[in-house]
Amino acid sequence: MKSFFGVVGSLWVLMTMFVMKETEGRFVVEKSSISVLSPIDLKSKHDAAIGNFGVPDYGGSMVGKVVYPKKPASTFGCSQFEGDQPFKSKLPSRPTILLLDRGECYFALKAWNAQLAGAAALLVADFIDEPLITMDSPEASSTGDEFIEKLSIPSLFIQRSFAQSIKDILQKGDQEVLLKIDWSESVPHPDKRVEYELWTNSNDECGVRCDEQMNFIKNFKGHAQILEREGYTMFTPHYITWYCPKPFILSDQCQSQCINHGRYCAPDPEQDFGQGYNGKEVVFENLRQLCVHRVANETNKSWVWWDYVTDFHVRCSMKKKRYSKECAEDVMNSLGLPIEKIQKCMGDPEADVDNEVLKVEQDSQVGKGSRGDVTILPTLVINDVQYRGKLERTSVLRAICSGFKETTAPSICLSDDLETNECLERNGGCWIDSKTGISACKDTFRGRVCECPSVNGVQYQGDGYTTCEPVGAGRCTVNNGGCWSDIRDGQRFSACSMSNLTGCTCPQGFRGDGQICEDINECKDRTACQCDGCTCKNTYGGYNCKCKGDKLYIADQDTCIERKASKYAWFVTLLVLGVVAIAGLAGYVFYRYRLRAYMDSEIMAIMSQYMPLDNQNHNQIVTHENEPLHQTSSV
Ligand SMILES: *[C@@H]1O[C@H](CO)[C@@H](O)[C@H](O)[C@H]1NC(C)=O
Ligand SMILES: *[C@@H]1O[C@H](CO)[C@@H](O)[C@H](O)[C@H]1NC(C)=O
Ligand SMILES: *[C@@H]1O[C@H](CO)[C@@H](O)[C@H](O)[C@H]1NC(C)=O
Repeated sequence: MKSFFGVVGSLWVLMTMFVMKETEGRFVVEKSSISVLSPIDLKSKHDAAIGNFGVPDYGGSMVGKVVYPKKPASTFGCSQFEGDQPFKSKLPSRPTILLLDRGECYFALKAWNAQLAGAAALLVADFIDEPLITMDSPEASSTGDEFIEKLSIPSLFIQRSFAQSIKDILQKGDQEVLLKIDWSESVPHPDKRVEYELWTNSNDECGVRCDEQMNFIKNFKGHAQILEREGYTMFTPHYITWYCPKPFILSDQCQSQCINHGRYCAPDPEQDFGQGYNGKEVVFENLRQLCVHRVANETNKSWVWWDYVTDFHVRCSMKKKRYSKECAEDVMNSLGLPIEKIQKCMGDPEADVDNEVLKVEQDSQVGKGSRGDVTILPTLVINDVQYRGKLERTSVLRAICSGFKETTAPSICLSDDLETNECLERNGGCWIDSKTGISACKDTFRGRVCECPSVNGVQYQGDGYTTCEPVGAGRCTVNNGGCWSDIRDGQRFSACSMSNLTGCTCPQGFRGDGQICEDINECKDRTACQCDGCTCKNTYGGYNCKCKGDKLYIADQDTCIERKASKYAWFVTLLVLGVVAIAGLAGYVFYRYRLRAYMDSEIMAIMSQYMPLDNQNHNQIVTHENEPLHQTSSV
């Protein structure tokens, strides 16, 4: 055992193997049925395995004509078919079902080429005689991810013998083959309530798979909550855990990836034991999410799980380095969840005892009845049958809707638009400004989202849950930009400045954080009016300083100067300036006269270049008082 551990090296692989060993590939292939409608002598019914990509028409059926490519080289469909949608049917009521051979490339690529060529569905023929298999999409790391998103036709896998009988007829060339593909029995539909479960994970650092499941949860939330609230469905979230083999419980690896003494483990999110988050933290958050569901379910509000999970992902992701207990508790607070009850449900992760909640999870990982074992994430199970196809809102809704007994499906199954009105209650747990009523809560088809709004052209920025602040131009017009302001004696003081696009800054004469500003008492602080014998009087937003005797206070220098002398000096300055200005004007007028009289046009042109300079000099000398002079000079 020890050497085995050494060879494998990674505990993750080891733990996976332990789970695999116990469950030993109990895998159930989900099927639809295919009936041959014509030719008459081939009339029969066959099973087909639903592919794990594209959009199976759950609850529905399709009648179409089979086409098998004529060129031997193109029967695999591994490269794009020539021409403009060569398999597009001219009769909309009789679409093309393209038959291709297994091999040479990914199943999903065949489906993509079939879709591009105008086929309405794809059948892939097995190349050996064996039981049906499920066609899966390629590993996330390969290049195929882009088109897999865009796959919208259903794909089915059929057995070699059935495919051969179709090919034989088509080869003769005088008869066409009509098939009916039927997905209506793919999901059992015994009653008016659908039970479904999603196997997921709170880890958001596992690449495409994690993004896929999170996007699905976000997009499906609105529908899921309506179905749950109105009692049409019973949804249960599930989380896979692994366990640490007994001999390794005390190893560093098990200690960092497991809780409850090796009983419940999760792989390290970064696959690096030395850095970032540990598997232990993932198991613990998974447990919290399970407990959120349990506790919420006790008060008949199980749908709050969808809010918690999406909010946790937005606010507490690993990517943002916020994946923590504290952040989780903030989210629970926003949603008004009873934190203590949830903590009690989670128990002590260090205790050497079973955790009742996680034990149930480990037991249900093993498939029973018509469902296979759950070994990959995400896995969606509807009425105990594993969902196949793209994990996407409309496809999943269609599959769930096909799980209701005929005529009992809710109206949501018939229409696509809905209003959730979740913002009406507790403002959906989003930010709201109690003064203005401006709110970050928005009802969308995805349920409520917390997004800082844009009001009257003013954009708000923030996390949408606890803070939103107006930013950009015009922000001071709304609630004064969230900043402090005050009016005293008819004068307005504000900490919001249009020239600063964010934040609040107390105006001059005040101090504070911009939310609250206090008048600075310059006299008490001795920051002003320190001149000898001066008397200081504080005012709101400023101060008055009086000099001893009749002196004049100069604020810039914080000194006093002789009032009389200064008045006289000021007068003299003005007089001198006035005289200079008049002299300048006289000289200038004379100069202009001379120019007009004696200079020819060429010299005038040269001189005119100097004229603006002249003007400027005058202005500087005469200051503002001599505006009229300036005006006359510009004739
Ligand atoms: C949720 O509560 C219902 C009863 O209201 C119960 O039947 C169901 O098992 C509960 N689900 C979970 C996951 O505890
Ligand atoms: C929740 O619903 C069940 C039946 O659906 C009911 O028996 C129970 O009293 C409800 N619990 C609360 C707290 O409303
Ligand atoms: C704008 O306000 C912020 C926050 O109060 C402050 O840190 C920053 O210096 C201000 N910028 C300017 C240009 O005044």
